[in-house]
Amino acid sequence: MTIPGKTNDPQNPLHDLEEWDDFVKDRYSKPADPQKLVGTNPDKSEEQFRDYEAEARSSVREFYRQNHRGQTLEFVHQKRDEYLKLDRREMGVWEAAEFLNMLVDDSDPDTDLSQLAHLLQTSEQIRSDGHPRWFVLAGFVHDLGKVLCLFGEPQWAVVGDTFPVGCAFSDKIVFPEFFDANPDKRSAELQTTIGIYEEGCGLDNVLLSWGHDEYIYQVTKEHLPVEAQYMLRYHSFYPWHREGEYRRLTNGQDREMLKWVLEFNRYDLYTKSHEPPDVEALKPYYEDLIADFFPTKLRW
Ligand SMILES: [Fe+2]
Ligand SMILES: [Fe+2]
Repeated sequence: MTIPGKTNDPQNPLHDLEEWDDFVKDRYSKPADPQKLVGTNPDKSEEQFRDYEAEARSSVREFYRQNHRGQTLEFVHQKRDEYLKLDRREMGVWEAAEFLNMLVDDSDPDTDLSQLAHLLQTSEQIRSDGHPRWFVLAGFVHDLGKVLCLFGEPQWAVVGDTFPVGCAFSDKIVFPEFFDANPDKRSAELQTTIGIYEEGCGLDNVLLSWGHDEYIYQVTKEHLPVEAQYMLRYHSFYPWHREGEYRRLTNGQDREMLKWVLEFNRYDLYTKSHEPPDVEALKPYYEDLIADFFPTKLRW
């Protein structure tokens, strides 16, 4: 099997998926202040004045160029049709985590942690802060949608900050100029503030760019509380949960759930350490936790 991101694959410019995570972590280097997000002026702390785009590596820049060009309304419909029948395979949650771990890049001596290690570090930090079991579990499963890479999807259709398609692209999305190459940009109908949607329609009725968030949400949604569903589905929707954009599309439930998305984001971004977790020691706890919420096999 081809592991995306290996040398000189023009479809997969990132060295590994972590390179995007690291970029986002750097861009949002401090946790959001929820108070600022509900006001009229979204968080604009000093570090936001750094020019992240100028500083971005060429691989990250190329990744966003492909992402912004390719994520059209039609593309999102096509991927939803292709994947959301969930008829690809049956896998348990732990099995999926081990499968995802094939994405680890062993060619890099300086490599970051494996995907499984990121999931366990996120969930272990949530657990050690005394949060409920569903929250710990959300931490453990949140990036399992990255298996899309192993199903042959290019990096730009798996990771990246998500954004609505079918309405104007916010200029708060990183590298907004790359949307000039997106065919939807030339459709007047798709470039109004509300686009194909209705004011206050709620995010559940909005199509976001395709990636690992929506996929894992769809695979797991029947088994998790709504707060966890929001954490999974919107964890990469930085234009909303960090920049305060697209509020005209949200409804009361979205506004109520925003605090959970932000609470989750703290763990996703800020618990990375280079200390690998002891997978074998943790496995029994996670097998119990998974069995409490999920059937033995999930449909992917
Ligand atoms: Fe993620
Ligand atoms: Fe993550």
